[in-house]
Amino acid sequence: MQTLSDLPALRAAVAALKADGKPLALVPTMGALHDGHMALVQEAKRHGRHVVVSIFVNPKQFGPAEDLDAYPRREAKDAAMLAAAGVDLLWLPPVEVMYPAGFATNVSVSGVSEGLDGAARPGHFDGVATVVTKLFNQVRPDVAIFGEKDYQQLAVIRQANSDLDIGIDIIGLPTQRAEDGLALSSRNAYLSEAERKAALALPRALGEAKRLMEKGESVEFATSKALIMMENHGFGPIDYVTLCDAVTLEPMTVLDRPARLLGAAKLGKTRLIDNIAVEPV
Ligand code: PAJ
Repeated sequence: MQTLSDLPALRAAVAALKADGKPLALVPTMGALHDGHMALVQEAKRHGRHVVVSIFVNPKQFGPAEDLDAYPRREAKDAAMLAAAGVDLLWLPPVEVMYPAGFATNVSVSGVSEGLDGAARPGHFDGVATVVTKLFNQVRPDVAIFGEKDYQQLAVIRQANSDLDIGIDIIGLPTQRAEDGLALSSRNAYLSEAERKAALALPRALGEAKRLMEKGESVEFATSKALIMMENHGFGPIDYVTLCDAVTLEPMTVLDRPARLLGAAKLGKTRLIDNIAVEPV
């Protein structure tokens, strides 16, 4: 596996990879890799694709009071995991390469990025859309793989890819979970042992609300049940537990079409998110 940190070298290496005509897949990450990321890498490798993984902790997607400085950085371990998984190229741009002095462009997707995490984290999805557009232009892959763990992020990226005629095939992969059901996340590293146990209340609350809605209980009743379950396990403040249209992410008050129940809340100092599909009865 090659590890590169400057753009001319990346362009040359990508051209060399593409020379045999096989498709190229990109897996964008912020590092501190876990089995969720590695599942994306395995998907990327399918059909004989060449695989580029990027690791860049993107300052533009962190708010001023968020965890940019604390975000776990484990580049050597990450690189070893990616090499062992058969990744061709690790793209590791420094901040000055991504955002040189004078950088002045912002990619802002309206609609799908406005509610939920867009409301709770102002500017977050502009930062995501801007960096992902740059990564797409730097690597120019045929396919890019993202996780449903960040369901709204996936929707924002699909929208930008379509609106800007980028033309990359965007693949979304189901959320990978620990055995007990907690979604794998780099931020789980912040949790104390007690918090790690309490964190299970998030997927359980979403699962219980799904069960209630799919057996005909109202959306309002089911989501308030989920909120209570989370509060009882120490979550708070809760940013949202909201049923949304599975594609547009518009909030829904009646379960009349395929939907997604999304939740985000703090547990101690750690902000956790999760989501689950809910099907109309
Ligand atoms: P990061 O949080 O490192 O996640 C990188 C990719 O891994 C994202 O597509 C995310 O949805 C996916 N992922 C994380 N946990 C997962 C899980 N448990 N199961 C399946 N997929 C999972 O998301 C980002 O980085 C950044 O916002 C990025 C897209 C790289 C832009 O900076």
